[in-house]
This record gives sequence, structure tokens and C-alpha cells, in this order.
Amino acid sequence: MLIKDIIPIRDIIDKKHKPQYGYYYFKPYMLMLLFFVISGCSFLFLGIIMKKPLMTGGALFIIFYGIFTTLGWILARYVIPGNRIKIAKDIVHSLNISGKEMILDVGSGRGLYAIEVAKKLSTGKVIGIDIWDEAEIDNLIFHHRLSQPTGNIIKNARKNAVIEGVDNKIEFISMDANHLKFASNSFDVVICGFVIGHLWKFSPAILKEIYRVLKPGGRLIIIDSVRDLTYLLLSTPHLFILSYLKGTKARWLTKQNWYSLIMNAGFKISRFKARRSIISVESQV
Ligand SMILES: C[S@@+](CC[C@H](N)C(=O)[O-])C[C@H]1O[C@@H](n2cnc3c(N)ncnc32)[C@H](O)[C@@H]1O
Repeated sequence: MLIKDIIPIRDIIDKKHKPQYGYYYFKPYMLMLLFFVISGCSFLFLGIIMKKPLMTGGALFIIFYGIFTTLGWILARYVIPGNRIKIAKDIVHSLNISGKEMILDVGSGRGLYAIEVAKKLSTGKVIGIDIWDEAEIDNLIFHHRLSQPTGNIIKNARKNAVIEGVDNKIEFISMDANHLKFASNSFDVVICGFVIGHLWKFSPAILKEIYRVLKPGGRLIIIDSVRDLTYLLLSTPHLFILSYLKGTKARWLTKQNWYSLIMNAGFKISRFKARRSIISVESQV
């Protein structure tokens, strides 16, 4: 048994720790760029000395691809307001919360939205769910493998809550959003940040389930990606190719698609903002 399994997380974390939400990793992108540039330049060199135009063309494509992907990352990180952590803080800050609400965060990841909203609560409580438990990942396995190389595990969500001092207001549970194990009319607010638009196959069951567990008058806050020019610039081409091959719609949702999805699930939209690759929608049961 490891020390960290015996001592509760709270006791081994001090104020120096910062929450880690798994965004904007520098190293993998730089390694990827290095890989594309080194392999591209090698093929370019071979193509030129062997006088093979196809190889030279392929090499130029590899170099271009590497640069394009890295530029997307730099744009997302430094230029476009795509900083996920800032978006979460701004959106949660602007929410009208009394402090007594029961809140559900669907697809919590490392707990970013659950933790931010918990900071606004007095007697209220947040439950964060995600398919953290490997046993719950069936047809979502493909999505899971590709989208979660960065440690979206329940332990990390709990650790972040402890670091932010809100662990007494949050409970993280592994659960599939397609089958929420809560009674109907349980929550005042549901937050769903970057989940629906990131699935390989859109599942209408998620919105139906959210509708069911919200109390009458309860609010759903969706923050997600919307397909526009900025989104295309930010996106890694291989993900687009994969989603096209898999015939998925979820990664291609336009403003109009989002509007229809939410309305068709029975919600009344009270605020709909779409700006530079991000939508934020508030709707009511
Ligand atoms: C891009 S991450 C977003 C995490 C977090 N909301 C944030 O903004 O940092 C999407 C999350 O949705 C989760 N997810 C995908 N399908 C799910 C499902 N059916 N039920 C619950 N969570 C799901 C994934 O495991 C992943 O952690």
C-alpha cells in the first residue's frame, strides 16, 4: 500500500499546490512539432536528392501539418480567448447563484466547473459526475482514449477540490451522463462544460437525463465549442479527419445545431452567446 493511500489527500496537500485542470500542456505540443519537423525535413532532403516529387510534396505536407497544429495551440493558448480556465471562471462568476442550490456538474473532468461554482455556495452542494470508472466506458472508449490522455481521473478532481478549499461542498461520483442515477427534480442548476460537443457520437439521452433531474424552473448551463472559423483554426486536422471517418456529428455543431438540440430537448433558452469558437447557453426547464 502506498503512503498516499493511507494518508487522506487533505493532509499531504499544502497551500503551495496549484490545481491542475489538464489544459494547455506545453511539452506534448512541442514534441509533436519536433517530430513533424524532423521527419518532414528528413523526407524533404531525401525527396530532393532522390528527385522524387511525391516524397518532396509529402514532406512539405508533414512540415505544414506540424506548424499548423502548433499554431492552433499557440492561438488557443495566447491569442484567442480560448483559455478554458478563464472561460470557466468568467461564466461561473456571471451566474446568478444564491448559494443554497443543489448543482450537478456533468462531465466534470478534473472538476473545473464544479470547483468554481462551489466557491459561490453557502449551504448548497455540488455533485460532479464523469465516466471516471473504466467499467462505465463502453462505446465511449474511443472518445475516452483520445480525449483523456491528461489525467482526468476522480482522484485528480478530488485533489483540486482540496487545493481550492471546497472539498466539503463537492462530491465526485463516477457515472455515465446517459443514465443519471438521481431522482427526478433533484437539482437547481446543471452545468455541462465541453462535454456534448466533445463526444464522438452525440447522445440525445444526456440532455433528456439532465432535463429529468432538474427541478421545475431549474437551469442548464452549457459551455462548449461551436463550429466557426476560429474553431477550424484551433482544431487539429487529424481530429477532424477521425470524426469525419467515424461519421460523428458531435464535433461539428454549428450555432444553429446547438440551438435546435437544446430546444428539442424541451428547454427554454434564456441566454445564447456564441463568440470565437465558444458557446455559452443558459436555458430553463
Ligand atoms: C473535454 S472534458 C471537459 C471536462 C470539464 N468539464 C472541463 O471543462 O474541464 C469532457 C469530459 O466529459 C466526460 N464525458 C464524456 N462522456 C461522458 C458521459 N457519457 N458521462 C459523463 N461524462 C462524460 C469525459 O470523460 C471528459 O472528462
